[in-house]
Amino acid sequence: MLSWDDYEEDLDPVAAKTSVDPQTQINVAPPVETNEDLIQVPEPQPEPHMVQQPSVDAVVAPPAPAQPVSVERVTVDQKAMINCRADLNQLVPFKYEWAWQKYIDGCANHWMPQEINMTADIATWRSEGGLTEDERTVVKRSLGFFSTADSLVANNLVLAIYRLITNPECRQYLLRQAFEEAIHTHAYQYCIESLGMDEGEIFNMYHEVPVVAAKASWALEYTREISNPSFKTGTPEADKLLLKNLIAYYCVLEGIFFYCGFSQILSMGRRNKMTGTSEQFQYILRDESMHVNFGIDVINQIKLENPHLWDDGMRALARKMILEGADLEILYARDTMPRGILGMNANTMAEYLQFIANRRLAQIGLTEQFANVKNPFPWMSEIMDLKKEKNFFETRVTEYQTGGALNWD
Ligand SMILES: [Fe+2]
Ligand SMILES: [Fe+2]
Repeated sequence: MLSWDDYEEDLDPVAAKTSVDPQTQINVAPPVETNEDLIQVPEPQPEPHMVQQPSVDAVVAPPAPAQPVSVERVTVDQKAMINCRADLNQLVPFKYEWAWQKYIDGCANHWMPQEINMTADIATWRSEGGLTEDERTVVKRSLGFFSTADSLVANNLVLAIYRLITNPECRQYLLRQAFEEAIHTHAYQYCIESLGMDEGEIFNMYHEVPVVAAKASWALEYTREISNPSFKTGTPEADKLLLKNLIAYYCVLEGIFFYCGFSQILSMGRRNKMTGTSEQFQYILRDESMHVNFGIDVINQIKLENPHLWDDGMRALARKMILEGADLEILYARDTMPRGILGMNANTMAEYLQFIANRRLAQIGLTEQFANVKNPFPWMSEIMDLKKEKNFFETRVTEYQTGGALNWD
């Protein structure tokens, strides 16, 4: 029951039959009674590339006079995070500068997996004493979890969140994030292929290894309703479903579920083992920390614009979700580290995850849960700090080509 397709099949068949093709809804904001006064908007128009070719009759008959289309210019005041009816094709004037800036920052951090040298990792992985059995387990579990988790995130972005977030600045970043998730899946596949792992074993861990499956199925539950093409925001109940999804994916899946595996692999790299894989993870973590920051900004902005959604029940639910996420990740840590390894053990990882959970709670305006918890892995924070990043270009094994420098010979 973990694949996306399975969830699609679970959709209400009546709703599915009568629903509109999701593609036709892109850039078409859902109708909302409360925003009628914002702007006069004509009936949703198809995207230019979706306009049907005229029929033979239409070609023969004299063309009807063109209907005037609203070309009203969008103002900043008309923009909104959700349920906005203003034209979503007008990126400017900017209202959400932070989203645009994250798009710019994401592009500035562009990288590709095949630019990282995997030679030393291949030798280590193949050699008898290169890694201990526990270390090999950590590598396999990490690649097993992440190789499918990033696909879950990408599918959630494209099939659920994108059409429901109704401003072009955030959509611009969502498009960047979606491509970064594709790069991450590519990176995991590149590691798996380079190391000559059993692909079937790794890519099926999210079905077959209970602690991995538990995390994937937890997240998928929050996608079930809002990925239905007939789902619309515009009521408090529906808007809360979207908010729950954002908390599930940004605060928990990307914000907690990634952190045990990341710190295990990066700790390995710090000990000069599997340095190529570790470098891949380092660039992924840099992207992911920006995804989390973006998602938290989105959640907080939705709360700001729709304070009625952030009631006692929603706050309690958000807390419960983050604590459930921390519990599942601690179970994952205990399963992948039955013994101390790489200068860490399940107890220090549990403290780290509580530290992360405290942070996620605080970031969305909730009180911290775990008292007197410190970060046992301060080096993780350094790796995530964009200002302290190493010069990426010095580590590349191939020339990075920009549009103006491409050699066509
Ligand atoms: Fe990712
Ligand atoms: Fe991500």
